[in-house]
Amino acid sequence: MTTEIHFEGRCVHPQAGETVLDALLRVGIDTPFSCKGGSCHTCMLHCTDGPIPEKAQRGLSERLRQLGYFLPCRCVTEHSLRIEPRQAKDMVTRCMLVEVDGHASGSLRIQFEPMTALDYRMGQSLRLVDGSAPEQEPLLMLTSDPATSPVAEARWVLQAGQTVPDSLAPSAEFGLEFEVRGPFNLDYQDLPEQRPAPPADPALWQALEDGRKARAILDAFYAKVYADTLLAPFFAGVTAERAASKQYNFLQQLMTGEKVYWGESPRNTHHWMVIPHSLFDHRQALMIETLREHGLDDGQIARWTRFEEYFRADIVKDHEWPKKIGDQIYSTEGFERETLLEATLCDQCGAEVSAGTEVLYHRRTGLISCPRCAGH
Ligand code: HEM
Ligand code: FES
Repeated sequence: MTTEIHFEGRCVHPQAGETVLDALLRVGIDTPFSCKGGSCHTCMLHCTDGPIPEKAQRGLSERLRQLGYFLPCRCVTEHSLRIEPRQAKDMVTRCMLVEVDGHASGSLRIQFEPMTALDYRMGQSLRLVDGSAPEQEPLLMLTSDPATSPVAEARWVLQAGQTVPDSLAPSAEFGLEFEVRGPFNLDYQDLPEQRPAPPADPALWQALEDGRKARAILDAFYAKVYADTLLAPFFAGVTAERAASKQYNFLQQLMTGEKVYWGESPRNTHHWMVIPHSLFDHRQALMIETLREHGLDDGQIARWTRFEEYFRADIVKDHEWPKKIGDQIYSTEGFERETLLEATLCDQCGAEVSAGTEVLYHRRTGLISCPRCAGH
């Protein structure tokens, strides 16, 4: 019996060993993905019918597992499935009001307790579920730090035309309930413009034996990264040597102020990588461990990581960004159809595809599907 994956009116047949995500992409279904290795959860889909392999739900919350969510990039199955994009309604958290004030100033301070786990960071935003379309729901900025405050706090700066629901009105009392969607990271549009580099620190570069120690640190660091199940998926297709060399030049330029790095800006390099704060923190913890193993003291570690922290806002995001060069925006998402000028091999089945054939081409990965693999 052939395996059938039903997705929004299309039926896809995965090949032996192929993940559900690769099968969808092979035929040109434009579904979101980033790491392709179970780390970022960008690809998460909802299964409405059929058995989901346990591995494909690893890392998801109990609630999402129960609802039938799974990671198609980790899902290899011989069973037929009926699947659909994630449902906005499922990404909602019910909350209980503790206190709300600030109505007179038009900037509400809302203190609340999420009734189920809400994994958020200060600076992320939520949308208040108020019956409007999800992208039009009021934006609440999270101002509390979940590590230190059990009660969450968010700011809602009232915009023209927005009305405050009864559950958050001046008269609202402790215990009233409301729902939020998210959390979300800063949106692309909200990002600060590219800022100048932080001040150089040539004394640190000198203390790193004019870079010799920095190179040893980076080699050891990337060995850890490539062995790490959360970070390694992003580096598929990039050698550790390339990653360490690029990073070396980048840090050398930052620390010495000399122009020795010719790669892309961190924002553009990482544009497709869905990296939450927690993953950035995890990378930094590995870096600090490595710096310590190489004998750097706390002061030197702070001076090194200051350069990396500076780029956090250019790297952390909850959805892929287009590239931005000057004022130009370049999207690398989705598929194009392209007529081959020269014969080539299909990236899916390896068969030769002759010149003049129309193939399916993914803008970011550059992988092509021949007409047979694309299901035409
Ligand atoms: C969780 C955090 C991070 C992940 C998953 C990540 C991932 C990656 C990957 C996969 C590449 C290789 C891209 C390629 O060669 O095609 C890369 C390159 C690079 N990353 Fe990161 N990175 C992270 C954090 C950082 C930080 C904190 C910095 C420094 C501020 C940084 C600076 C760079 C630079 C300079 C390159 C080379 C760019 C180029 O090839 O032109 N990354 N990163
Ligand atoms: S978890 Fe599937 S693409 Fe990252």
